[in-house]
Amino acid sequence: MRCLVSGVAGFIGSHLAERLVRDGQEVIGIDCFLDYYPREVKEENLAGLKKSPNFHFQEANLLELDLPALVQKTDFIFHLAAQAGVRASWGESFSIYTENNIRATQRLLESCKGQKVSKFILASSSSVYGDAEEMPTSENSAPKPVSPYGLSKLACEHLCYLYWKNHKIPYLALRYFTVYGPRQRPDMAFHKFLRSALHGKEIEIYGDGNQTRDFTYISDIINATVKSISTDAVAESVNLGGGSPATIWQVLNIIEEITGKRVRLRHIEEQKGDVRHTCADITKAQRILGYAPQVRLGEGLRKQFLWQKGGMLDAY
Ligand SMILES: NC(=O)c1ccc[n+]([C@@H]2O[C@H](COP(=O)([O-])OP(=O)(O)OC[C@H]3O[C@@H](n4cnc5c(N)ncnc54)[C@H](O)[C@@H]3O)[C@@H](O)[C@H]2O)c1
Repeated sequence: MRCLVSGVAGFIGSHLAERLVRDGQEVIGIDCFLDYYPREVKEENLAGLKKSPNFHFQEANLLELDLPALVQKTDFIFHLAAQAGVRASWGESFSIYTENNIRATQRLLESCKGQKVSKFILASSSSVYGDAEEMPTSENSAPKPVSPYGLSKLACEHLCYLYWKNHKIPYLALRYFTVYGPRQRPDMAFHKFLRSALHGKEIEIYGDGNQTRDFTYISDIINATVKSISTDAVAESVNLGGGSPATIWQVLNIIEEITGKRVRLRHIEEQKGDVRHTCADITKAQRILGYAPQVRLGEGLRKQFLWQKGGMLDAY
């Protein structure tokens, strides 16, 4: 089968493409090396993949590419390309989100019209919920994003729905909850915490540290994402959480255990757009994707720590 992975040089996209290639699929990977974090990091993410004869990389922007030609003869589209990050999505930067998230998704969906794409799999986000009233949060909760980033991801889900409704393009929207593990983006909390701990620097904590996140290890996310190929379910939004929600304080305790060092902290004001708690109800993912997260927080953090120390490159 031929799979298209957009955002293939990123954290999750590179792991996904590796897994698909390992499963014997032919993978076309697209990325434009958006400068949100350094190109060298993304080149490193692609290094192993580029050795595989089943992997074909194209450096290109979804906003400019001749997409119908690309989508032709593609069975599955894994659309992970996006401008990620909640905190940077305010003000002037919002246009980066409308372009790379909303407009790029619309262009890609438009290019699927009249083609034989078996499924369009969208990387959506827990950010679509905002400060959810129901915990754990099921897909029936009304999405009310509290960040421009969350709004852009919700718009992408709505685009998928309307192209399904009008043009019968089958889709699944996977709502990822805070993903971590080797190759995690350098702007994400665990990456920053571990980097600071390794270099004996102060760790910056937003707010009181009692906020919780449903942290999800990368191999669990990849297993579930790949299952999208074989499930009959279409036109659904599905939560993918790790099943081990923790406060920032609990994370810091684990980091002290792993590194054997006491962490030094600096408190910073709560950030606009950050939600207080996330916790996924994964009943639907269990039902339609056979999803059961395997990696507990302590184990996953240890793996990410080893990777950041330079000792481990494989997330599995
Ligand atoms: N990491 C998480 O915790 C998390 C949580 C929820 C949702 N997501 C979603 O998962 C996806 C992957 O996230 P990630 O953490 O791997 O991010 P990432 O920034 O590492 O990867 C995204 C990649 O997309 C590429 N890209 C962006 N716009 C593009 C365009 N117009 N054309 C071509 N390439 C483009 C970027 O260069 C980047 O390499 C994103 O859609 C993100 O919104 C991630």
